[in-house]
Amino acid sequence: SPLIGLSQICESGIGYCDSVNVISSKILIKGGTVVNADRQEVADVYVDDGVIVDVRPNIKVADGVRVVDATGKFVMPGGIDPHTHLAMEFMGTETIDNFFSGQAAALAGGTTMHIDFVIPVKGSLSKGYEAYVEKAKLSCMDYGFHMAITKWDDTVAKEMEIMVKEKGINSFKFFMAYKGSLMISDELLLEGLKKCKSLGALAMVHAENGDAVFEGQKRMIELGITGPEGHALSRPPVLEGEATARAIRLAAFVNAPLYIVHVMSIDAMEEIARAQKAGQNVIGEPVVSGLVLDDSVLWDPDFVTAAKFVMSPPIRALGHGKALQAALSTGILKLVGTDHCTFNSTQKSFGIDDFRKIPNGVNGLEERMHLVWDTMVESGQLSATDFVRVTSTECAKLFNIYPRKGAIRAGSDADIIIFNPNSTFHISANSHHSKSDTNVYDGRSGKGKVEVTIAGGKIVWENEELNVVPGSGKYISMPPFNYLYHGIDKADENYLTSLKAPVNRFNPSI
Ligand code: URP
Ligand code: ZN
Ligand code: ZN
Ligand code: ZN
Repeated sequence: SPLIGLSQICESGIGYCDSVNVISSKILIKGGTVVNADRQEVADVYVDDGVIVDVRPNIKVADGVRVVDATGKFVMPGGIDPHTHLAMEFMGTETIDNFFSGQAAALAGGTTMHIDFVIPVKGSLSKGYEAYVEKAKLSCMDYGFHMAITKWDDTVAKEMEIMVKEKGINSFKFFMAYKGSLMISDELLLEGLKKCKSLGALAMVHAENGDAVFEGQKRMIELGITGPEGHALSRPPVLEGEATARAIRLAAFVNAPLYIVHVMSIDAMEEIARAQKAGQNVIGEPVVSGLVLDDSVLWDPDFVTAAKFVMSPPIRALGHGKALQAALSTGILKLVGTDHCTFNSTQKSFGIDDFRKIPNGVNGLEERMHLVWDTMVESGQLSATDFVRVTSTECAKLFNIYPRKGAIRAGSDADIIIFNPNSTFHISANSHHSKSDTNVYDGRSGKGKVEVTIAGGKIVWENEELNVVPGSGKYISMPPFNYLYHGIDKADENYLTSLKAPVNRFNPSI
């Protein structure tokens, strides 16, 4: 049942109901324009005990209910970020934002849930899972897990089944890059795709040709290009396009749905568009940095200024971002993540003499909602309902937690933002909530402002102030067999039938 609210947290004794400042679990949001992915309407929203109880005009409530006026503002589902790395051990260090600071930042920016990538410990999924359960004890908002697959044997295959059937994980990420650490082979990718399909899980890929990247890095070092620009030059769009095409074709070969994370280039986006046109289920996820930044920053003479933009795949030349925006507006790309993976300037400085040692990753959890609104809605490329779809609803549907998440409707979790389209946002490394001392969007401002964030039925962000408690976030278990799996067995049956009938043998959709 989607109706799981505060009572569950209270019983386990870890929630904020135990704290002394429980004012009221009842909130009435009055007079706003309620925006869902399918429609918008002026209505009140009544919240009680962590759940949305009613959505309609002119709700009357008793005294003691906290009333929040939303006249002239949008009332929307809290954002869901499909792609984050909190407290991730990577490239010899650990991301600076943990499950508390990263989530606090998210809430200040209107995101109320995220899905983080569990990294196995020496290939062990169960050890990785346990480590992330520990890390996530600091949580102050709801979260779910994807899991990376970094090696292959019978134990891994068995553990994938346990993760799906017992631990609420319905997606696995395969890294085609990071040679020598996370990178997998085509053979492993094929095994993984088959296993995902049999479990009803969604396979996700980081699509860059890791062997060629390794060659590209050597080439740059030999040319004496050791600065942050060498990072981008060593792994050009063609390597992202190649790996994207390869992953798509291997997924087609086993008829499995596929999710391409952090689509950064026209090259990758066009491979996705081509596959979709041929009828293949391929989901493309752009990230905020890829939509709004360009690679000129990597040539900044100040190392730290340039290094903070180093991520993989790299931020591309001007033009790629515009094309990704257009693809998001027409539905080729479906939902926006951040790949929030922050390292501070000390950590970035590990690569001062060699770009290969700069920890890869940028921030975005706090900024995603504002930047997507300003870039896509203010420019007329997306409507308000589209905005809700790409920042929240589509993610909830893909990871099979809709309509508990991703909707303002009776029975859904009370994860809600009040957004003022006439206000302005300002981004600064001095005032953001991430623990990092830098911000790749430092100095930006734009139209629209998340004025109130309600998470799990509690007002956690209001008047520019956070009220968050570590330990109050809930793990969201995500069941397998999302909508991409509907009809997949029929397609498999047709394929088997076609093998027996020579006339049908060529079936380009399989
Ligand atoms: O540079 C990045 N993207 N760091 C995080 C790890 C990944 O590849 O998603
Ligand atoms: Zn309670
Ligand atoms: Zn990646
Ligand atoms: Zn990532």
